[in-house]
Amino acid sequence: MADLISEIQALEAEAAAAIAAAADAEALAQVTQNFTGKKGALTGVMKQLGSLTPEERTAVGKAANTFKAKLDELLAAKEKQLTESKFASLAETEFLDLSVTPPEFSQVRGGVSSGHTHPITQTQRRLEAIFTSMGFSIVDGPQVEDDYHNFGALNFTDDHPARDMQDTFYTVTGHLLRTHTSTVQIRALESMKPPLRIIAPGRVFRYEEVDASHEHTFYQMEGMIIDRKVSVGNLLHLMQTLLTEVFGREVDVRLRPGYFPFVEPGFELDMKCLVCNGAGCSVCKHSGWVEVLPCGLVHPNVLRSAGLDPAEWQGAAFGLGLNRLVMMQHGIEDIRHFMAGKLEFLRQF
Ligand code: PHE
Repeated sequence: MADLISEIQALEAEAAAAIAAAADAEALAQVTQNFTGKKGALTGVMKQLGSLTPEERTAVGKAANTFKAKLDELLAAKEKQLTESKFASLAETEFLDLSVTPPEFSQVRGGVSSGHTHPITQTQRRLEAIFTSMGFSIVDGPQVEDDYHNFGALNFTDDHPARDMQDTFYTVTGHLLRTHTSTVQIRALESMKPPLRIIAPGRVFRYEEVDASHEHTFYQMEGMIIDRKVSVGNLLHLMQTLLTEVFGREVDVRLRPGYFPFVEPGFELDMKCLVCNGAGCSVCKHSGWVEVLPCGLVHPNVLRSAGLDPAEWQGAAFGLGLNRLVMMQHGIEDIRHFMAGKLEFLRQF
């Protein structure tokens, strides 16, 4: 019996050495197998219990339990140590340094940067959302137009100075590049039945000497309402709502007379300068007001040429210069930036 007990006690040293040498969880499982498994060392010792007295068996059994408890203790300690060192080495190799400034998008994915819309497109989309929420539909028209849609149907007389070659790009086939989005007023009147509310954003062209405030290619957003009763009050309210939405605060507006052949009366709409709040500054050239957009009530001749009876139908129209609006929104000083294709400029928006 004493032999068996010392055999068991000898196992303890063996097991401790095996556990200390185990490099991972698998090796530890093997150690368990080797000592307490079906064919393990302890099992072998216990098979010899048959020849002992009950008291002796109790004594050997006690030694076996002590050994098992010790084994469990050693295994648990080793397991804990293995897990800790595994996480320690993970922390070495896979750690994330959250204090590092991330690289710019342009530096990841092989230098392909994620783009965004042009500042003019951004403002255009915003206006489209505002107008569609007020029941307007967005309509489009061709950029290469004919004289009728750009001038004739808009009540320009044959000798009107705006038809001058100096303002208009003509093509060799007798067409022209539209000089304003008012062409889409005519296109809409041809294809839609009143009452109607439309906006027509788009690119327009003028044969201009390019400088800080003139481009040969720029963007407008036309707007038109046709209904049985449309007043200057309606127009003014619409413009005030629009500008308040665009600038995110209440803006004051005023109308000055302005001449365009396709509106009567025609106006230039001014907005109280947001920089000086009307006190006068360099932005508003010390007048307190900034010219924002031309507008007016649709001329009876325009209605007539669309086959509408001016006694039955009335209209209001406006022509928002998108470039100018975006320049005011962002304090951009030179209109040529928009078409320059300079990323340093575009990335600011
Ligand atoms: N089409 C005019 C222009 O480009 C602007 C305008 C539009 C004026 C609608 C009145 C009404 O100059």
